[in-house]
Amino acid sequence: MNLKPETLRQIDEVIPHYPVKRSAALPLLHLVQEDLGYIPPEAIDWVAAKLELQPINVFELVTFYPMFRQKPIGRRHIKVCRTLSCALLGGYKTCAVFEQEFNTHRGEISPDGEVTIEFVECLASCGTAPVVLIDDDLHEKVDARKAKQLSDEIKRQAAARSQPAIQSSRPAVTVPAAGAKPPKG
Ligand code: FES
Repeated sequence: MNLKPETLRQIDEVIPHYPVKRSAALPLLHLVQEDLGYIPPEAIDWVAAKLELQPINVFELVTFYPMFRQKPIGRRHIKVCRTLSCALLGGYKTCAVFEQEFNTHRGEISPDGEVTIEFVECLASCGTAPVVLIDDDLHEKVDARKAKQLSDEIKRQAAARSQPAIQSSRPAVTVPAAGAKPPKG
């Protein structure tokens, strides 16, 4: 397993916090996914061995919980809510804008490797629908116009990242408040 030393350290630190090793399975899977971006088959075997379980025990967890991914995703993860409030207020249109902006379809990695777009169920912010989660940041009232602004911001950050002088790791995506002047440069 090609995990970062920091992830391995966290894994070794977390296991003794549980009275039985198997109880650490979910935290370990979260750490692996955080490191690799998804949980490949070899990670299931590795976690099982680490916790003295059978691989099927870990596989059941990975397939049961929707937050675990078994496929790689793009650098940014865009989750668009499709549950009732968001669907009624334009969530599908919002998703279509992201797909168009990044020339990709839901569930796939965009050709530039930058994003994966997915539908998700209720993000518990129904009063501010349509709602979008980009990485760990919740964005509210994301109509088509705001989806375009967020897409532009992701592209701008990707372009900045390609310049060696600028160090940026998964920065938050924000759009200017209505009436605010756009940043210079
Ligand atoms: S329906 Fe979209 S946040 Fe609840």
